[in-house]
Amino acid sequence: MTTTAAPVHSHLGELTVTEPGRGLRTIAAASRVYARLVTDSPLVTALSPARPRRCGGYEFDTTIDEIVDEAEDVRSLVLRRFDGAALPTWSPGAHIDVTTPSGSVRQYSLTGRPAAGERYGISVRRLPDGTASAEIHTLSRGDVLRVRGPRNAFPMAAAEHYLFVAAGIGITPIRSMIERAVAEGTPWTLYYHGRSRASLPFVTELQQMALHSHGHVIIRTDDVDRFPIPADIVGLGTGSSAMYVCGPAALSRRLREEAARSTAVREFHTELFAPAPVVDGTAFAMKLDRSGDTIEVGAQETALDALRRVRPDQPFSCRQGFCGACVVGLVGGRVEHRDRVLSGTERESSLTLCVSRGAVDGEVLVLDL
Ligand code: FES
Repeated sequence: MTTTAAPVHSHLGELTVTEPGRGLRTIAAASRVYARLVTDSPLVTALSPARPRRCGGYEFDTTIDEIVDEAEDVRSLVLRRFDGAALPTWSPGAHIDVTTPSGSVRQYSLTGRPAAGERYGISVRRLPDGTASAEIHTLSRGDVLRVRGPRNAFPMAAAEHYLFVAAGIGITPIRSMIERAVAEGTPWTLYYHGRSRASLPFVTELQQMALHSHGHVIIRTDDVDRFPIPADIVGLGTGSSAMYVCGPAALSRRLREEAARSTAVREFHTELFAPAPVVDGTAFAMKLDRSGDTIEVGAQETALDALRRVRPDQPFSCRQGFCGACVVGLVGGRVEHRDRVLSGTERESSLTLCVSRGAVDGEVLVLDL
């Protein structure tokens, strides 16, 4: 069985240094003078402020074209590009970054059919302590939202059979995958769990999709059926199933363990609602190159959390290593990269604070901050 999102490790290359000639020595001396002048000048901060490196991608304004109340506390928004242009294409499992009018950034999975190039659909559950989701629930048709992406950290591979598992609002990336399975005629099974039937969006649509394809939908709720049983869920696999799970970290972990023991599924892929706890972490230190501050990062905490103790406004969003919002420049030290967003080249000069860590005991990471 294969699983996705395994951490990737990389190391900085080694430089070979040779003895410089007279011309090079002159250039080096001039560079040192220049560097002293520049770094001592207050202008340098204004001209080159410390800031995170954001990953490239499409960024544009959208207008809310339609709002639909789907289920208890779940609202869907249909977005069009503000300038009327076509929207970037996407694939099942993709998400967009949405900036709310007050400036919060959150990721939301795209829910419709990738072929529908003029409209994006997202669905947002209002969380009891969620300021961004509460704000989105106050928006009206015609309001403008800044959008970035789409990106896909949960891609769907070809399979003979799909076993989808969604918990509550975790149905959003799974729904677009089901649309693909239906379009391609691939058999699929959805296990869909929530706290109550009224809290689950898209139930009727999903049942209709199952009726008109090789699909099967199983709905279970806490108030009637009690809690999900991992062995029963994994047992829905056919032996050649690719399993895609979107839900809380605890459920995902138990399903992953069960799938590893079972012959019912061949692949396991997951996307989490919230960051998983740090696994196999060791303590390390970070130095902020511009301020000179040194920050200790505990074995059980992320570099982002440690940094936010002293810089509470440090940007972040997904906290799972796939959005790029927390990426900062790396000046020195070797990094154990655990993200899914940076390329090999980018990893030589930057890191994602939310998941990546110091790779070498006792070596301080120097950040461009
Ligand atoms: S917050 Fe998204 S990659 Fe770190």
